[in-house]
Amino acid sequence: MYHLVCVNCGTTYPADEILYNCKKCGHLLAVKYHLDTITVTKATWEKRPLSVWRYRELLPVQIEPVSLAEGGTPLYHLKRLGEEMGLPHLYAKHEGMNPSGSFKDRGMTVGVSMALQLKKKSVACASTGNTSASLAVYAAKAGIPAIVLLPAGKVAVGKVAQALMHGAKVISIRGNFDRALEMVHELCLTHGLYLLNSINPFRLEGQKTIGFEALDQLGEIPDRFVLPVGNAGNISAVYKGFLELQEMGFINRLPMMTGIQAEGSSPLVRAIREKLPEVIPELHPETVATAIRIGAPVNAEKALIAIRKTGGLAETVTDTEILQMQRDLARKEGIGVEPASAASVAGIRKLIKEGMIDRDERIVCVVTGHLLKDPETVIKQCEPPIEINADLPSLLYALHL
Ligand code: F0G
Repeated sequence: MYHLVCVNCGTTYPADEILYNCKKCGHLLAVKYHLDTITVTKATWEKRPLSVWRYRELLPVQIEPVSLAEGGTPLYHLKRLGEEMGLPHLYAKHEGMNPSGSFKDRGMTVGVSMALQLKKKSVACASTGNTSASLAVYAAKAGIPAIVLLPAGKVAVGKVAQALMHGAKVISIRGNFDRALEMVHELCLTHGLYLLNSINPFRLEGQKTIGFEALDQLGEIPDRFVLPVGNAGNISAVYKGFLELQEMGFINRLPMMTGIQAEGSSPLVRAIREKLPEVIPELHPETVATAIRIGAPVNAEKALIAIRKTGGLAETVTDTEILQMQRDLARKEGIGVEPASAASVAGIRKLIKEGMIDRDERIVCVVTGHLLKDPETVIKQCEPPIEINADLPSLLYALHL
């Protein structure tokens, strides 16, 4: 049905070999299906509920999946913001509406199911927060232990709360995410835990369904698909999914894959701008959008291809632009997202101002995580509640009535 293939040297490995990198050259692996043997039709998919598992023929899981009804997230037309920007066809796919409040659940339903399929007894990840929350949730559902490594003091409180409450063993390291990932990778290789960061090629399989769903919801191929980029797994996953649909003859062109990074944490954007063959890691990434505070995106190799091959773009946004868009989405569209998520739409606002994109384009921005993930950043931006005595005159006074 499928095997693993190195994206650099093309070496193939059997599907049940537990590997995170090519044994020959050390580069990333991808899941390769024998698409000519997959006979599913669009009509079959359309009969099923909108969810990750609608597309199960293009997923590697062969057991009953560990599932909490992930995917099936809303695609909103950004009418007001689109009008302001002069973009009549601007949409947001709200991934904050997943079970744990981020798109990571799409990857974890598949990843944790694969852990069971491969007979692994425990799972682990490093995380800027959302991956750890999602892993904790799905490990709980599967009934297996999870270990998560977080950069101390740099994870939004809602995400830590989730990881703790769902019963993961939570370790905070005095170092950044990039270091946490190196450590957990080593731990998994030496101690047999199943690694569920996005270098795990199976996890990305679940995430590609964001693109499939958006296509089904829009009823046509978007011209541009925009994602906030941290480790660059999600943009790579969505691109891979579109390629598969094209190979199966379901679509005849690919959206322009567009990645947005925070200015203080933007090695991928730099590589695209300067036409570098590979990303040069940033040693001290910094941004208010802690979810994408990542200096060495492990999936950069795949993401560079996704952007370059589709004629896409990569752009940075400042923390101020991110927070302004977080407020605008909340107040003008009723869409509550965490800062990293606002980066995709903030990026479009910048690109349209710069004249880099066409006003007629159909644009899908993925907003990746829920507002409540990071309540502290929300509270800091808003006026506090007005506290009054419990009587009507005080209320009228407070309301200037
Ligand atoms: N948006 C949010 C809310 C995220 O949590 C992440 C990544 C991204 C965007 C970027 O996605 O890494 O695939 O490019 N969060 C990871 C984590 C790193 O540990 O939760 P990417």
